[in-house]
Amino acid sequence: MILRPMIRNSICLSAHPAGCAAETLRQIEYIKARKGLYSTTRRPKSVLVIGASGGYGMASRIAAAFGSGAATIGLSFERAPSGNKTGTPGFYGNRAFDQAAAAAGLSSRSLDMDAFTAEAKAAVIAAAREMGLRFDLVVYSLASPVRTDPATGILHRSVIKPIGKTYSGTTVDVFSGTLSHAEVGPATEEEIANTVKVMGGEDWELWLDALAKGAVLSDGCVTLAYSYLGPEFSWPIYRDGTIGRAKLHLDETARRLTAKYATTGLHAHVSVNKAVVTRASAVIPIIPLYVSVLFKVMKARGNHEDCIAQADRLFRDRLYAQDAKGQAVPIPLDDEGRIRLDELELSAGVQAEVEASLSHISEANLHSLADIEGFKKDFLAVHGFGVEGVDYEAESDTE
Ligand SMILES: NC(=O)c1ccc[n+]([C@@H]2O[C@H](COP(=O)([O-])OP(=O)(O)OC[C@H]3O[C@@H](n4cnc5c(N)ncnc54)[C@H](O)[C@@H]3O)[C@@H](O)[C@H]2O)c1
Repeated sequence: MILRPMIRNSICLSAHPAGCAAETLRQIEYIKARKGLYSTTRRPKSVLVIGASGGYGMASRIAAAFGSGAATIGLSFERAPSGNKTGTPGFYGNRAFDQAAAAAGLSSRSLDMDAFTAEAKAAVIAAAREMGLRFDLVVYSLASPVRTDPATGILHRSVIKPIGKTYSGTTVDVFSGTLSHAEVGPATEEEIANTVKVMGGEDWELWLDALAKGAVLSDGCVTLAYSYLGPEFSWPIYRDGTIGRAKLHLDETARRLTAKYATTGLHAHVSVNKAVVTRASAVIPIIPLYVSVLFKVMKARGNHEDCIAQADRLFRDRLYAQDAKGQAVPIPLDDEGRIRLDELELSAGVQAEVEASLSHISEANLHSLADIEGFKKDFLAVHGFGVEGVDYEAESDTE
């Protein structure tokens, strides 16, 4: 069939198999071109990525495999194609990754399971044993709206809401180019607790406990979970809202894990990354407008980065950096013990320009002040559409 993007309420319901593969290969080529810059001595050898099929997880897996030559296991929860429904983008992305890894002689396995279950943890441990891996890097990059607690069987739903007060701001529908006023009422205590349950560190800790018990962690293992802080004006809906509470829980979990496994030399870190476009980016109020303006400013300054550029910097300049003599450089951390990759986004100059644009944005000047086309292009590319070199008039076999 001929596939087109099917967008409903800022969600894209279709994915293009060849386009998703091409987008994955684009990221692989990006890293391959930088392979010479990666340390051959300071590098991860066995890497687990939980949430590996998209966004920051996929980019991290690509940097680990194609930059550092690591064997990787990637776990994600994607939908396979059925009938006339395409699979989800990550279904095709994982397949493209495994094929490219095999072609490059890199050991890899992709598992499609609900990461929150004990079964997924057991499956990863079994796969690691089979492949002879003891992980020296475990990346936790899940973004999920729901989680069933394995201890209680209760399904928890996360929400993106402010705490204690209503949030209001301008938001954009990037597909129609219309601005509107968005208002989100404060979360209840139950919604806050549920969001922490889903997006906080509880499951990250369960993973590390299972992997340690399964004896598939190497001494000195590093584990990372990803976070976002964002500019001050977004704090009421993000950092000081429900999702911020969950991210705070990740910070606490990182400290707890490092202390708990101190005898093994494990270090758990939260890495605060830059705002990029991923599958859910278009549905969070104010984020598409902020991100579009941010892209405009950062592209003009020549310091714009996408997921793969961030992952590249994470591996080369943060996790496995070395000095001119090849000596290990300790991972640079902020005062809270976090890795920061959002310093360019949050620099005073960038934020001043973003704020100035946002203060007088209207539908009339939207396209001159905001990179709406760039946002749309990235959003479509995540779903395999609009990717260079792909023939979109050709019939696609979704299977
Ligand atoms: N997108 C951003 O701008 C941004 C910025 C900074 C930090 N982050 C953080 O990075 C992390 C990853 O976000 P992303 O934007 O890359 O998301 P994404 O939607 O692109 O990827 C999420 C991944 O989680 C997997 N997943 C979801 N539910 C799962 C489940 N139950 N079991 C197994 N896998 C499951 C998906 O299959 C996918 O691989 C999140 O913690 C997010 O807060 C994102």
